[in-house]
Amino acid sequence: MNDKKIILTGDRPTGKLHIGHYFGSLQNRVKLQDEYEQYILIADVQALTDNFNNSDKVRNSIRELVLDYLACGIDPNKSTIYIQSMIPEVAELTVFFSNLVTVSRLQRNPTVKTEIAQKKELFGNDGESITYGFLGYPVSQAADIAIFGAHIVPVGEDQFPMIEQTREIVRKFNSTYGDILVEPEALVGKFPRVKGLDGNAKMGKSLGNAIYLSDTKEEIERKVMNAVTDKTKIRKDDKANPDVCMVGYYHNLFSGDEKEIVFDECRSGSRGCVACKKQLASNINRYLEPIREKRKYYEEHMDLVDEILIKGTKRARSKAKETMKKVKEAMKIDYFKN
Ligand code: TRP
Ligand code: SF4
Repeated sequence: MNDKKIILTGDRPTGKLHIGHYFGSLQNRVKLQDEYEQYILIADVQALTDNFNNSDKVRNSIRELVLDYLACGIDPNKSTIYIQSMIPEVAELTVFFSNLVTVSRLQRNPTVKTEIAQKKELFGNDGESITYGFLGYPVSQAADIAIFGAHIVPVGEDQFPMIEQTREIVRKFNSTYGDILVEPEALVGKFPRVKGLDGNAKMGKSLGNAIYLSDTKEEIERKVMNAVTDKTKIRKDDKANPDVCMVGYYHNLFSGDEKEIVFDECRSGSRGCVACKKQLASNINRYLEPIREKRKYYEEHMDLVDEILIKGTKRARSKAKETMKKVKEAMKIDYFKN
């Protein structure tokens, strides 16, 4: 087990996971857990940078997140799931790292820049609401990664600059104090982002356009019925274009070979949208059924879920402590032995 490379991924606990998360990363994590020593971080401290006054949301999302992981096939015997705030060594490393990065470099971090621009748009101010904690979140993310000696960090396109930032901080640490930290590589996901039911490029809770892994059969049916279709199709036998229809788009993901028939019938006008939607909903439900069943099992055994979190966090913490021992020796702040 020890010669396996280390991989680290994580999510902010701010809500339940949707099928965009599933195709974009969860599916991949399930595969990677066999090949790598995998850590899965529940980034509650990072979630608090944006939600410091909403700790209920963060707290309540933690178990939802673990339920989603387990439901999708993350195996706690192969993957270490842990809670960030319960590893105080990460906060400690963040402080040491904060001397190794300039404020202007953080302000130039593309992910931070984009998020600041979004905040400005949202709150309509000139960025005076940007906190020290928010600006510094790439530093804490670097600590998340470096403390486990992660070799590989799978990320979406938007998080790529975070890994670049981590590499710089690690290089700076190693050149200053000695070569002890691992410089991680980003593994950028190939799966395109899944669009929302309304056609929005982003699927998200605030937009109300997401299909959650925990949605019931009825919720899926209702959501699919409201999906945006080819607007030129008014009557059942009008010809239409499945490529400009969100139902068509989702048939691509869930309907396998059946989709060719669906598309042909849509184009020739021999298929009505209602039947088309019903078929899609039933395919999505067939796909999600095993996930739903597994989720239900763990929902009924929440003590198991807690145990998985406690064990994972314990395992993660002992690894973090090992790294911190080396870090402090290297920094010459290991004043007393033991
Ligand atoms: N920033 C990531 C997100 O918003 C979550 C995260 C925190 C993370 N620390 C990490 C991801 C370390 C990978 C590695 O999704
Ligand atoms: Fe979309 Fe299906 Fe209607 Fe075609 S028939 S427009 S693919 S819902």
